[in-house]
Amino acid sequence: MKRVAILISGGGSNMRRLVEDMKGDHPARPCLVLSNDPGAGGLARAAEMGVPTAVVDHRAFPDRPAFEAGLTDALEAARADIIALAGFMRILTPPFVARWQGRMLNIHPSLLPKYRGLDTHARAIAAGDAEAGCTVHEVTADLDGGPILGQARVPVLAGDTAADLASRVLVQEHRLYPAVLRRFAVGQRGRLDLSPQAGID
Ligand code: GRF
Repeated sequence: MKRVAILISGGGSNMRRLVEDMKGDHPARPCLVLSNDPGAGGLARAAEMGVPTAVVDHRAFPDRPAFEAGLTDALEAARADIIALAGFMRILTPPFVARWQGRMLNIHPSLLPKYRGLDTHARAIAAGDAEAGCTVHEVTADLDGGPILGQARVPVLAGDTAADLASRVLVQEHRLYPAVLRRFAVGQRGRLDLSPQAGID
């Protein structure tokens, strides 16, 4: 049984879906929900779901390597095998990434390789894209550039605001991330393509 640490910075809706899914015949269990922000709403929700929580506040450390040493201490104490980044808003340095390479996933709200970084939905709308979506990928030192493990697509509709599109994509994030994690935990690295039309729900 793999032990999964989920790293968050905010409300943690993806974290909640991952935790809810890690039951029964699932090949993994949550061992820790960690936030860099003590105010992250997801911490209370994780505790309600019975998952140990930790805060490693980046503002309490002099620099990024010291912060990451704090992360490593917490992850080692929890004996994490896999790290799932779920709305974790800190950039990780190459040494930290290298330490966890092949064992760390992220969800990104665009159809990578399009729109790495922030403001993905506004950028997709501004570009006139007909579709948008989300990607789960392995984390490498190349920001939002690691091997793609799965994607889910949604249409961009006329008149969509970035918030409209974000909420449509988030529904798909909540399907995609648990589905990819289940596969990843048993070593499947093949790409999963979920579309609302050809859903596996
Ligand atoms: C999601 O859109 C995720 O793709 C992005 O940050 C958001 C986190 O949302 N990286 P939540 O905290 O899981 O609700």
